[in-house]
Amino acid sequence: MTSYVLTLDEGTSSARAVLIDPDGQIVSEARRPVVPVFPHPGWVELDPVRVWQSQRDAMLEAMSRVGATARDLVAIGITTSRETVVLWDRRTGEPIHRAISWMSNQTEPIVTRWREAGWDDDIRARTGVYNNPFFSASKLTWLLENVPGARERAERGELAAGTLDTWLLWQLTAGRSHRTDHSEASRTGLFNLHTLAWDEQLCARAGVPLALLPEAVPSDAAFGDADPTVFGDLAAGSRGVPVTAILGDQQAGMFGQACFEPGSAKNTYGTAGVLTVNSGADPMLVDGQIASVAWTVAGRTAFEVEGTVFSSGQTLGWLRDRMKMFSTGNDIERLARLADDNGGVYFVPAFNGLGSPYWDRGATATISGLTLESGAEHVVRAAVEAMAYQTRDNIDRLGAAGLAVASLKVDGGAAGNDLLCQFQADLCGIPVLRASQREMTALGVGFLAGIGVGVWKSPDDLAAGWTADLTFEPGPDAARADHLYEGWRRAVAAARAA
Ligand code: G3P
Repeated sequence: MTSYVLTLDEGTSSARAVLIDPDGQIVSEARRPVVPVFPHPGWVELDPVRVWQSQRDAMLEAMSRVGATARDLVAIGITTSRETVVLWDRRTGEPIHRAISWMSNQTEPIVTRWREAGWDDDIRARTGVYNNPFFSASKLTWLLENVPGARERAERGELAAGTLDTWLLWQLTAGRSHRTDHSEASRTGLFNLHTLAWDEQLCARAGVPLALLPEAVPSDAAFGDADPTVFGDLAAGSRGVPVTAILGDQQAGMFGQACFEPGSAKNTYGTAGVLTVNSGADPMLVDGQIASVAWTVAGRTAFEVEGTVFSSGQTLGWLRDRMKMFSTGNDIERLARLADDNGGVYFVPAFNGLGSPYWDRGATATISGLTLESGAEHVVRAAVEAMAYQTRDNIDRLGAAGLAVASLKVDGGAAGNDLLCQFQADLCGIPVLRASQREMTALGVGFLAGIGVGVWKSPDDLAAGWTADLTFEPGPDAARADHLYEGWRRAVAAARAA
């Protein structure tokens, strides 16, 4: 028998499963695509049953690849993209509607209603998030108001709600566990950062019965045991596998990157681009940034300040799938390097509006500065540069608030792009550190899950073992970087006015 930690990593674009051995190495990985539905312009939904099926298929494939059965698994960690909401029937486990994705704008009228009622500042002060369709609260209200019979059924206690972690946990445990962790809960807009509990007043205002919500517990809690039936033929007589960690994907990445000291920062270039900075034992409100729980581990809560950029790697996916500018991710850097520079082209990827630090859902995606000399290479380069400009937008905001980012650890798919990493370093004037492992999200929650069952001792082991594989030092031409960044600021202003 081997001792593996299994991580389920439910991202926006794919459901991944990863097996980690006691040396902390990923020994097997499998993934399935996650396909969103766009019922109306600006609306983004997911079929929760397909999400679970994809996640389960990925899990079984990752296990089969190394001949593992459930008896070889010592613990499970779950990490997911956050804010997405599922509402389901407690008895049958069937969703009563598609999940509303974090990307969806469909709850704008609810958010406007709450703004007009004067709730913005109170939401921000209690939860650290903004009154914005991005967060879960208005999504849950939308489901209760728009799905026939939902409110009555919720009030009778027939329904259960949760973010994707809670949905996956419910499925894994065959409906026995209805829980989430503090980091995922802190993204809902219903969780009070100061009491670390659901905020009864905000829930009442949003019309969300408390009984609908999962129990919010520490990130290293005993979340319940995965039921042997979910492993099918791979159960092999197992009596269940404990789920010992849940973290939001960005918080898991931060844990994997060993950002344990206040001030330590990482940026993940995923579908979204997310800068997270450890702010220590207290929540810190920085203009334009979100304050969230990083994790509650060993009885102590750490907080993060987060800059969430809605479209980062997603922009490259759009250029590939919709514009057909290239066919695989490997082409991006080659194509971008065909141009000496951006040729004056700027790409503001406000496909769903702009997140941090602007919080402008009305902004429009634009490509500007095109001339007859511009080619695909300039547009691709502009899209890559946009990932870095958006990160600087948030780093600058943090600096102005006294939380200077001295160096940046990077991960996520696009972190493999040397051009991007170097440009990020030049643009921000700080070293950019890339670890050899880019699956920090899966590793982060996997490590936490393993610590829970004694595979590893403590986060300190992780911090001691973290090394940069490559460091990108900032180039000498800061004036050029600032000049390029000025062009970006003008392009953003135009995209917001468009
Ligand atoms: O808050 C949204 C974030 O969790 C999405 O992450 O990795 O799917 O881009 P990702």
